[in-house]
Amino acid sequence: MSVVPSTGNGKITVPSILERKAKVSLQNSAPAKITCLTAYDYPTARLLDEAGVDVLLVGDSLAMVMLGYESTLPVTMEEMLMCTRAARRGTRRALLVADMPYGSYHDDPAAAVRNAVRFVKEGGAEAVKIEGGERRLELISRIVDAEIPVMGHIGLTPQSVNAFGGFRVQGKTEEAGEQILRDARAVEAAGAFSVVLESIPRELAARITAELRIPTIGIGAGPDCDGQVLVIHDLVGLSFGHRAKFARRYADVGETISRAAAEYCRDVQQGSFPSDEESYHARTEKTGALFAQRK
Ligand code: KIV
Repeated sequence: MSVVPSTGNGKITVPSILERKAKVSLQNSAPAKITCLTAYDYPTARLLDEAGVDVLLVGDSLAMVMLGYESTLPVTMEEMLMCTRAARRGTRRALLVADMPYGSYHDDPAAAVRNAVRFVKEGGAEAVKIEGGERRLELISRIVDAEIPVMGHIGLTPQSVNAFGGFRVQGKTEEAGEQILRDARAVEAAGAFSVVLESIPRELAARITAELRIPTIGIGAGPDCDGQVLVIHDLVGLSFGHRAKFARRYADVGETISRAAAEYCRDVQQGSFPSDEESYHARTEKTGALFAQRK
């Protein structure tokens, strides 16, 4: 599968994402909201791509929902790359964005650019996502200089869980809100093509969305953002533990899997699986009879 975006066939590209917001403000028309979901494997990416999701994010949330860690911090470059390659193979129309994991961009800026390049070269990603605002200004612009589009991520940045003292809503006070506004401006000034606003007051997200030229993609940031993102496991009911109030559940795949597994165990134990129709047979009746006689 080619990973080079070709225009005119409905392929979602970085310029087409930017254009959506620009067109809305030019024509004063109803916004065509950007849809984004996480995908970490081939079948999920394929199903979401075919369902028409605009942006697939190989989020570092896979550390929690796929690998069972309590935070996103332990996931490695190699694990993220493996999932990005799998999602790439299932993605044709959507824009594929890979999350840079904790530690892959926090030290040497040259190493950070090299890691971003790996997501493009080895993973087939079309863009990378980086958490942080003002303090990532220089880094974002270096990665953009390396021809890699960057999606920013501000507000509740899960890689800052220890600094924040937990997964808490951010920007609730005037001072904190002002900082998030500065972060948003910095991410745009650095050359990012969009920015995720996570778990901030709706009013603040609306203000940022009105001010920025680049699209805002909200998660727990209210309905006024230019687009929305959710973790696919939350959307389909395949995650455990605390559920954030914005994580609307559209299906209960967890219940479906549990029921299917319990029915399978029952059928095996009762001898009703596999049936004769689900079994292979000898080519002729005579051979079958011979097999049956042998001890
Ligand atoms: O890792 C992730 O899934 C994310 C989204 C929730 C934005 O960062």
